Amino acid sequence: MKKMMEACEGFFNMSEEEKKEFQGSRDVLDPINWGTNFNCNTVGKKFLIWRQFLKLYVHPQFNSPYKPLGFSEVAEEYCKRTREICRVLMRAMSETLGLKPDCLEKATNWDEGFYLLASNYYPTCPDPDQVIGLPPHTDSGLMNLLVQNDVGGLQILHKSGKWVQWKAMPNTIIVDLGDQMQILTNDLYKSVTHRAVVNNKSTRISIVSGHGPAVNAKVVPIPELLEALGQAPAYPGIPYNEYLQLQRTSHSFLKSTLDIIRLES
Ligand code: OGA
Ligand code: NI
Repeated sequence: MKKMMEACEGFFNMSEEEKKEFQGSRDVLDPINWGTNFNCNTVGKKFLIWRQFLKLYVHPQFNSPYKPLGFSEVAEEYCKRTREICRVLMRAMSETLGLKPDCLEKATNWDEGFYLLASNYYPTCPDPDQVIGLPPHTDSGLMNLLVQNDVGGLQILHKSGKWVQWKAMPNTIIVDLGDQMQILTNDLYKSVTHRAVVNNKSTRISIVSGHGPAVNAKVVPIPELLEALGQAPAYPGIPYNEYLQLQRTSHSFLKSTLDIIRLES
């Protein structure tokens, strides 16, 4: 985790000129995508975002910038290890649902699972109340494993409607569940609304391992679970890549994609 944090810091500390080589285009999905959101209105007129990011597609194919030196090796190892953690958690979660341990993996063709590694870089901001690091959203996949440097800024929306800041603790992995987990479990496990705020004292870096189903896997509420619960499915089956597409076009920052696809009860 420490090495990966240093590698990401090294990447963001390269000059704009060097990073530009990895800049993604706006409409295609680039397997390597560096970008910045400073002072641009990406979602209507609602948020001024204050961050740089690096997004890499790392499974089923591993992609990485070739610099800075050593980045790619560290990233590959980090991805391998975090995928193993995710596998253990998926199995344990299957069991908590009374299902066979590999049920969630099978239901999502997880061996071919889409893994997006993202690092967010939130520099010190002179006027933190005027901007947001990352607007409120839920993550689209199964689960995200988040590691941050020792600067807090991740906030979670509590059911009371209050934002609760996650204390930055060293050597900690924060796990949050994504929308696909909510679909699979027919709302038993909920995806969590969260956001990132910035501050005027120090730069914050987060590393987010986003684990999802295979892009062409049609994700449905698990039939055995529905039967055990005596419930009707709350969601139609939707291929993961279509869900991602829907999330992009519906501006998930403003409306939950789950609410868009939810079936009438
Ligand atoms: C994300 C995310 C929060 C953070 O990248 O999906 O929620 O603290 N990041 O950077
Ligand atoms: Ni998130």
